[in-house]
Amino acid sequence: MNQDTKENIILIGFMGSGKTTISKELAACLHYSWIDMDDMIENEEQTSIGRLFAVEGEAYFRNLETKVLRRLQSFQNQVIATGGGVIASAENRGLLKNTMCIYLEWDFNTLYHRIANDSNRPMVSSYGGLEDLFNKRIQYYEECAKYKIACEGKTVLEITKEIQEIWSDENENSGY
Ligand code: S3P
Repeated sequence: MNQDTKENIILIGFMGSGKTTISKELAACLHYSWIDMDDMIENEEQTSIGRLFAVEGEAYFRNLETKVLRRLQSFQNQVIATGGGVIASAENRGLLKNTMCIYLEWDFNTLYHRIANDSNRPMVSSYGGLEDLFNKRIQYYEECAKYKIACEGKTVLEITKEIQEIWSDENENSGY
């Protein structure tokens, strides 16, 4: 990478963790481009995630998610918001590891209250069902993340600033 090309920053975390909002803010602060993987899929498929799940099924969506993630490997200077389930496949985890992948960590109860009534999220189920999914996924978020941000009690701006600080430390250490 030359002086002007920098690694992408990839935000991961459960549904409701603010990946989209925080990635937009971060991209604006760093003068990076912003990509939301769910938006990319919806644009390319010309339909909503909800409809994709309902009509084609989850496996079809996961396959598209992997294809998009593979393609994003050749991009630079992007802040990328992923979908909460991007860590479900071993291939995706392999692609995320060794990138500037940041896990936005929240308590389950906080997330649950944000997403419980969101009919646009096909993975949303009962409290127990979501909690099981959350508990199953934690290990994968942790496995993929280079950094974990403890987000509880922090604002979007505070979280963004924390990521920016990590990012400037990384760039200083790599000699940029
Ligand atoms: C999913 C999360 C969603 C979206 C899809 C599946 C998941 O993204 O990718 O509905 O499996 O957790 P958000 O995390 O932005 O809600």
